[in-house]
Amino acid sequence: MKELQKQSYLTVKALFLSSMAWFVLGTSAGFIGATHMMAPELLANIPGLFFGRLRPMHTNMVIFGFVGTGLIGTTHYILPTLVRVPLFSETLGILSVGIWNISIAAGTILLGYGFNQSREYAEWPWIVDIGILISLFLFFVNLLMTAVRRREKTLYVSNWYFLGSLVFLFFIYFFGNAVWNPATGSVTGIADANLAWFYGHGLVGLFLTPLAVGAAYYIVPLVSRSPLYSHTISLIGFWTILMIYNHIGTHHILQAPVPTWLKVLSVTGSIAMIIPVATVLINLWLTMRGRLAYLHADIGGKFVFAGLVWYLIVCIQGPLQSLPVIQRVTHFNNWTVAHSHIGVLGFAGFIALGTIFFILPRITGKPLFNPRLADVQYWLVLFGITAFFVVLTPAGLLQGNSWYNGETVYRVLPELHVYMVIRAATGLLIVASAYIAFYLVFRSIFSPERKTE
Ligand code: HEM
Ligand code: HEM
Repeated sequence: MKELQKQSYLTVKALFLSSMAWFVLGTSAGFIGATHMMAPELLANIPGLFFGRLRPMHTNMVIFGFVGTGLIGTTHYILPTLVRVPLFSETLGILSVGIWNISIAAGTILLGYGFNQSREYAEWPWIVDIGILISLFLFFVNLLMTAVRRREKTLYVSNWYFLGSLVFLFFIYFFGNAVWNPATGSVTGIADANLAWFYGHGLVGLFLTPLAVGAAYYIVPLVSRSPLYSHTISLIGFWTILMIYNHIGTHHILQAPVPTWLKVLSVTGSIAMIIPVATVLINLWLTMRGRLAYLHADIGGKFVFAGLVWYLIVCIQGPLQSLPVIQRVTHFNNWTVAHSHIGVLGFAGFIALGTIFFILPRITGKPLFNPRLADVQYWLVLFGITAFFVVLTPAGLLQGNSWYNGETVYRVLPELHVYMVIRAATGLLIVASAYIAFYLVFRSIFSPERKTE
């Protein structure tokens, strides 16, 4: 027990701080991208800020840098705590964080200079892929060795999700980035489209989702002061997501000439996703039912609760938009961009933020720096992401219906302008929340003094 109390939590702190720095940089890049859609001439002649370069800089920074790093940070606290031994090696932890951050930074800079492998979420050049794979391997070894030395016999479901997600990511990253083809990072033909979406889909579904769900399984029972409703149901959720999610990435390319059997498999699998999603949401709901006041009195609990509500929404939307009859209207427009943001930020990002705020006092031994400011941050990001969803969804329907009915693209663009202006404006709230979150985490770690109210 003493061993646990004496820990420095250096790796967790480094991961939390890095996550917040990527949150700031990633959302700022997203905002500049949004200005291109609102006022295309504004930043038109700066090569490093061309939309084609900025977009992958934004998506990779927020997915790997902000949400990924934040959630990996939470695993480095939750797993050792649950198995009641300290992290296997802080030195290995810091080394992994270093390689991970250098890789993301190198990838971002290279994209800014126009080095791009042109496959969504796999744009980084080969050398960056190698850095990411090495750090993932090191993160996994550190966590696995911690679990091997455990004092607690039962592996709580969060740990299944954490270890599983790092294994999934390592392999889907390796294959999805076609690492054996350094020059292109791809294979050829339609097989490449399949490979790319096996990867892109797995990145959110088998990396971010299990990490976020694992964190929610830790936070909800603790904050609502009630034991998990059912350990068995939680494991059914783990095994069914593993069985179903990995082979349904073709629902991203239903319009492409991929074999029909693969499309059918992906659509039926997308509907079957209701099973793992329902197990998580019902199990956690039955754990927190009647105890929502506890959750909302805690800044971490509040974020995680909101994240689960977004999970419900994104997972109602997901199976529906997998149906070809619906995707005919919703594909290739802002509908999907709305879905992406409520998934990656609303669900996984909110759970990352909540878990970070919950863990910070426990690793610093001091209360969170300025909880009132954390509350302001919560409302800013909640309002921002809700506005994103409310604005981009109708914008997508407008685009989709116009194109479906044969309308020329240039006649639709003026109608979209107002939506793009509102998106950029409300996006600023999310950017502001990122700066506040960085400040809060930084001060919570480094400031000796505390304002508790
Ligand atoms: C941490 C918060 C954020 C996350 C996790 C996030 C995530 C993403 C993802 C996953 C995409 C790809 C969407 C797709 O292809 O369907 C995307 C695109 C984009 N995001 Fe964000 N984003 C965040 C914040 C922002 C902010 C604050 C803005 C600025 C207003 C923004 C503006 C954009 C733009 C302009 C695109 C390109 C959309 C397009 O190509 O049509 N994002 N973001
Ligand atoms: C039941 C669960 C889900 C299903 C069935 C599902 C289904 C889909 C489908 C069919 C698309 C493609 C839409 C199109 O291009 O027309 C899509 C896109 C996307 N989904 Fe989901 N989704 C689910 C949950 C999630 C979650 C939980 C996240 C985030 C953690 C997420 C993140 C994304 C992103 C980022 C994209 C955009 C990919 C791109 O850049 O084109 N989804 N989803």
